[in-house]
Amino acid sequence: MTAAEAETTAPTAEWVRIEDLYENPYPIYRRLREESPVAWVPAVGRYLVTSFEACHRIEQDAETFSANEEGSLMKRSMGHSMLRKDDPDHQTDRAAYGPVLRPKAIKETWTAAFEKNAEKYLEEFRAKGPGADLHLGFAAPFAAENLREIMGFRNAAQEDLQRWSQTMIDGTGNYADDPEVWAKAAASSAEVDAAIDELVPVLKAEPDASLLSAVVNAGMPIEAIRANMKMTIGGGLNEPRDVLGTAVWALLSHSDQLAQVLAEPALWATAFEEAVRWVAPIGMYPRQTTREVEIGGATLPAGARLGVVLGAANRDPEQFENPEAFDINREKKPHLAFGGGAHFCAGTWVARTSVAQVALPKLFAGLPGLRLTDRPAREGGWVFRGMLELPVAWN
Ligand code: HEM
Repeated sequence: MTAAEAETTAPTAEWVRIEDLYENPYPIYRRLREESPVAWVPAVGRYLVTSFEACHRIEQDAETFSANEEGSLMKRSMGHSMLRKDDPDHQTDRAAYGPVLRPKAIKETWTAAFEKNAEKYLEEFRAKGPGADLHLGFAAPFAAENLREIMGFRNAAQEDLQRWSQTMIDGTGNYADDPEVWAKAAASSAEVDAAIDELVPVLKAEPDASLLSAVVNAGMPIEAIRANMKMTIGGGLNEPRDVLGTAVWALLSHSDQLAQVLAEPALWATAFEEAVRWVAPIGMYPRQTTREVEIGGATLPAGARLGVVLGAANRDPEQFENPEAFDINREKKPHLAFGGGAHFCAGTWVARTSVAQVALPKLFAGLPGLRLTDRPAREGGWVFRGMLELPVAWN
């Protein structure tokens, strides 16, 4: 028994296995939430928090639930970014992102890039012919190229961003301490450092609209620039890619709701919001207690490592009626897919605009008769969850 288990009143959920979480976490979340919304899960070495109320409370109380986790694999893989800092250090980094990801910049600068990229990758996808995989063939390059442009990596290709993102994320989840995973993460990390080093003097001399330019010219120290850029590569690519795939899959599986959206374009935004609630792309993120605390009916010791399970909070029946269903007509209520409190996602407007306003309408208009095929779509993951394969056909 570990120290964390010895000092807690939270029950232990021995029955939870990582393979089952990866395959389909939702029945597990349901049982955990019903039995105890805060439970010690030995398989993942954390207390998993599965109710909406407890997850929301954690997000609002950064003094008790610190983002600066000891022994964080993310810090090892990507360096110490704002995502693993508490205020005031977190706020210093976040302020340096300036207006780059905010609605005005998205309207004036980035929407045109999203439109150009959607058309380019739609054209390439159409050329593959019916049966092609929309996840790999459209969602991934579209999300990666958008992020490459916003971040300002003019000396890299979208394929580089996809490789960097995946290998460094694999590092943050490398609980098995696999040396090959660390080697790949370190190689990507070195490539990102080299790309940044090359661009810093260029952007100091001639600032542009990008995120890298913003942090360089805000005077952020180089170690913080590197860590924050790596975290944003890891956190800004998979999520829009995954919610795009989930939304397409959900709409193609619910033809009545698809017909509704096609008849009323304002509903693309509603479909996006429901998709991100239904399958939260970031399913779980870590926090650590700074003091003994009571939460979800359990007492936790100081230093307890938590998993805030957004994927479970977003399907809590206390918050959402019939939560397991994809339903664009459900009563509008806040979800937690973008987190909350100090670390509330900085890229929500990027995601909403690129996916709901640009990609989804263009895909359904540009691929008439879009439908699923006999080859089934597959989804996976729990820390990050999304489509693994999404074969589609069209007329
Ligand atoms: C559907 C798409 C997205 C989802 C669901 C999502 C979700 C999240 C969540 C849950 C967090 C908080 C994590 C935590 O507290 O530990 C977060 C933070 C963050 N996200 Fe996103 N994200 C998305 C897209 C993006 C994009 C496109 C970008 C960049 C262009 C981005 C940049 C960030 C940054 C910089 C943070 C750190 C904020 C901070 O620590 O203050 N995200 N995101």
